[in-house]
Amino acid sequence: MNSKRVIITGANSGIGLAAALKFAKEGHVVIMACRNIEKSRPVQQEVIKKTDNPSVILKHLDVSSFKSIEQFCDELNQEFDQIDILINNAAYFNHGSEYKLSEDGIEITFATNVAGPFLLTHFLNNLLSRSDDPRVLNAGSNIIKHFLNPKKEIDFTNLEGENMKDPSHSVYVNYRNSKMALLMLTFTMADYFKPEGINVNSIQINGATMSKESLQKVKPGWRIIARFQNLFFRPPEYTADLYYNLCTSDEYKHHTGVHFNHRAVPMQPALNNGGLLTDIKQALGSDVYPLYADREDIKEKVWNRCREMTREYITLDS
Ligand SMILES: NC(=O)c1ccc[n+]([C@@H]2O[C@H](COP(=O)([O-])OP(=O)(O)OC[C@H]3O[C@@H](n4cnc5c(N)ncnc54)[C@H](OP(=O)(O)O)[C@@H]3O)[C@@H](O)[C@H]2O)c1
Repeated sequence: MNSKRVIITGANSGIGLAAALKFAKEGHVVIMACRNIEKSRPVQQEVIKKTDNPSVILKHLDVSSFKSIEQFCDELNQEFDQIDILINNAAYFNHGSEYKLSEDGIEITFATNVAGPFLLTHFLNNLLSRSDDPRVLNAGSNIIKHFLNPKKEIDFTNLEGENMKDPSHSVYVNYRNSKMALLMLTFTMADYFKPEGINVNSIQINGATMSKESLQKVKPGWRIIARFQNLFFRPPEYTADLYYNLCTSDEYKHHTGVHFNHRAVPMQPALNNGGLLTDIKQALGSDVYPLYADREDIKEKVWNRCREMTREYITLDS
């Protein structure tokens, strides 16, 4: 078997952990990129023990911190000749929490879910492009369905503490916006990295049961909702298997700039003005993504904002 080197961010719990187990079980080299080493060390040991694969490496990475991303990539550059797969799985979704800035002065949801993956992917460009089949997968969410409503837009006006005391601030809304921004970034990155042969896709996750620990991150009101949702959601292993297939199967070798649904089927842009029945079908199904995601002006805005935020760390040609 062709053993791959795969980085999974946020691999100490939930879908990330299930994915680490899956890749390790299949004999790949797994780099668990986690922000809390003390907490993640026993998890790494558990993965090694359960899979009998010693090539499970734990590295420190706080995706919300540009310095941490730089250090993580410096280390990888010293230790590896190439990376085959990057899964941008980690995310901030502490619903109900107050407005918070990352150490780089960026709203924490955007920093973790958008700007972090942007910088990380760029920094790994060299290592990825040495693989003969490099793939990047971004973890999306069905929360972007809100954008099927044409009135919804990403708010770019409060991403760097411009209005920290805004009483209408909501992590839920920021999370919704961040996942839309990540999808747009997926499309732009796919074009950007095409010359290097790096495929960039995303997967729309409809839900995965949350662990007790993850439930503690959201405030009590949201916790009740999440506990209720847990009754209906699939176990994290379901999505982990999708990660695995999308990142290793020959079937997806030539896909790039694709947003996949939970059946690993490419999603299409939604139909506008299809009538009420179409609207309902689109909102309930998982076949289409909101047209908003294809807006060139907003895609450019997301890209440029990420570039500006990370300008001390990278300079891009275009
Ligand atoms: N669960 C769902 O219903 C659902 C639905 C749609 C999409 N998703 C997406 O699926 C992905 C995985 O979520 P999950 O359900 O598996 O949740 P989870 O169990 O809470 O896992 C999230 C992981 O991200 C890590 N993380 C958060 N901030 C980080 C940072 N700054 N740096 C590094 N790691 C960080 C967490 O680390 P700590 O343990 O240190 O906090 C944790 O390991 C996320 O992208 C999420 O948005 C999940």
